[in-house]
This record gives sequence, C-alpha cells and structure tokens, in this order.
Amino acid sequence: MYPLPEGCFAPRNQWYIAAWADEIRREPMERWILNEPIAFYRTEDGRAVALEGRCPHRHFPLGKSRLIGDNIECMYHGITFSPKGDCVRIPSQGMVPASCKVKAYPLVERWKWLWIWMGDPALADESLIPDHHEIGLTDPAFTVESGTYHAVPGRYMLMHDNLFDLTHLGFLHQTSIGAGDYSVVDEQRDNGDNWISSQREFPNIQCPPLYAQVFGYEGKVDRAFGMKLFLPSLHAGYDFLCKSRTDSDDPGAVLGKVRVYHAITPATKNTAHYFFAYGRTFKQDDDAFGKAMLASFNAVIEEDMLATREIESMLTTLGTTPPEVLLKADATCVRGRRLFESLIRKEQAV
Ligand code: FES
Ligand SMILES: [Fe+2]
Repeated sequence: MYPLPEGCFAPRNQWYIAAWADEIRREPMERWILNEPIAFYRTEDGRAVALEGRCPHRHFPLGKSRLIGDNIECMYHGITFSPKGDCVRIPSQGMVPASCKVKAYPLVERWKWLWIWMGDPALADESLIPDHHEIGLTDPAFTVESGTYHAVPGRYMLMHDNLFDLTHLGFLHQTSIGAGDYSVVDEQRDNGDNWISSQREFPNIQCPPLYAQVFGYEGKVDRAFGMKLFLPSLHAGYDFLCKSRTDSDDPGAVLGKVRVYHAITPATKNTAHYFFAYGRTFKQDDDAFGKAMLASFNAVIEEDMLATREIESMLTTLGTTPPEVLLKADATCVRGRRLFESLIRKEQAV
C-alpha cells in the first residue's frame, strides 16, 4: 500500500505505542491498531488490558461494552470475557464453544506510554522497546511535557514520510519552526536493522519564529537538529540552538535544547495515531510556559496533518497510485520505506 509496495501494510511482530497510560481507565475504550479493533481497560487493581475488540458472536464492539469486575461483558447478548480473552459466561447457554474467545495482546506500561505487541505473543520481547532513558524521556536535564494525542486523517506511512524529509520545514512550517532554506543543507544519514537516523546543521541562520518568541532573541543562530526512528513507531529527535558563532553578541551561547518524540501507530488502512511529547532545558520550572510551548508544537503538528489529510484525500479520490518523482532529499525516506518493507517481507516469508 503506497508508499510501500502493494501487499505491504505494516509489520506486526513489533511494539507500537497504543495509548497514553492515563487514557486507559476502568471505562472500556475502543482504539483501532493495524486495522484491528481493540478494547482497552484497566482491571480493579489497575493493570491495563488490551483485548480483541470484536465480539465473536455478532461482532459487537467490546470497547463499547461494559465491565463486570475484571471481565468485559458484551453489551449485545452478554457474552463475557476475562482479561486473558477466555469466555467465562454465555447467558443464553451453559456450553462455551471453543471458538468463543478473543485475542489478548501483550501490553507494557513504560514511562507514560502503553506499548502493544500486535503479532505473535510468543515473540513479544520487552527488551525490544526503545530505551527510554537513552532517548532522554527520563533524563533529569530535560523537563518533558507529554500528553498530546492526534487522530491522523491519513495512512501512517505518510506521517513517517513527513518526519523523514525535514526539507518541508521551510515551507509547510514557515511561520512556526521553519525559517530560511532548510533544503540546501547536507544531511548526515545512518541506519541499522531497526532504526534510521538523519541530522543536519545550520550555521548562522535567522532564529525561527517560534524559538525567537520562546528565547526573546531575534538574532542569528546556529541550529542542529536530527531524528532517529526506532522502527516501527517512535521518532526521537533533538533540536539544539545557540547564538551564532560567527555573527552574534555572545557567540555560541546556548539558547536551548529541545527533544521531540513523535510516535506514529497505524490505526486503520487510512488513518493513524500520533502521540507527541517534548523535553526542554530552559524555563524548566515554568509550567505555564511548558504547556504554551506544547500548544505551539501542536500547531506545527496540525500543519503536518494538513499535508497528510490532503495527500490521503488525493490518493483515495484518485483510486490509483500514480508514480512519484523522487528527489535527492528523499534519501532517508527511501531507506526508511525499505526498512519497513523488509520487516514486513520477513514476516510474510515465515
Ligand atoms: S454480539 Fe456479543 S454477545 Fe452477541
Ligand atoms: Fe512537519
């Protein structure tokens, strides 16, 4: 499925971010992941549960049903399932057919995220979840603001494409985080089996509008930013700014360091989930400032969603996948897509 080849949607034997931990409560919630409905809830002792969200009787959504203790009772005819997905009750008969059960997905609560394993539960190895300390989520040098969720009106790979090719900053985001020509600077790239990274440095550029406002500084800056995607879900990035080393009153003075976290999870074939957080090294005790900056980043994400929504609408309405013109700036994008494809092909080969 574009931008991946036909027959490739998303790798399954992987950890994906399913939700913010505080989104999952006692009241069941339905959320689609990899085109599967999932019912999330917490047991009485607070453990998060993810069950296949479709009752095997008449396909009523379990995420829109009710809890009886730790079990979930289908709203339609009352078939009840345990947190392991076993049927514990069919009100209209005593005998439980073997086919009357639902899948239970491995779910790990780490930091403020819930990670779900969509594939073979026997392969769900928690050590494959990216190290939260290494990527700065728990680094005391940064204050991390978390908690935004965006429903993306487009296929998940469009959002990865967006994050892979940051030459769009100077155009789509020209009034927020972009300023100047980001497309002419060389990119340093690297990748492994399950990750891909990209970095750029911009000496002596105009301070981007959002940061000019944040730092109260209108002069020239040296900026370095980059991103590492831990396939298939989490882009961990950084954005460091200092006063220009060649043209400022205080050369090299650090204005601030920002870390950004973009988690992209396929929802349906044509929609995705987007969980965003960021960390900062400045005004760390100023809660109101932190929230305001989060709101500014959310406005940036809305710009990305606009592009995604328009492209999804274009492709869906056309009903075909026209060839695309590939540019030099697409190198990371092309590598990233290949990594996704190879994960999917490996699973298909088994
Ligand atoms: S649809 Fe769930 S019990 Fe009938
Ligand atoms: Fe963007």
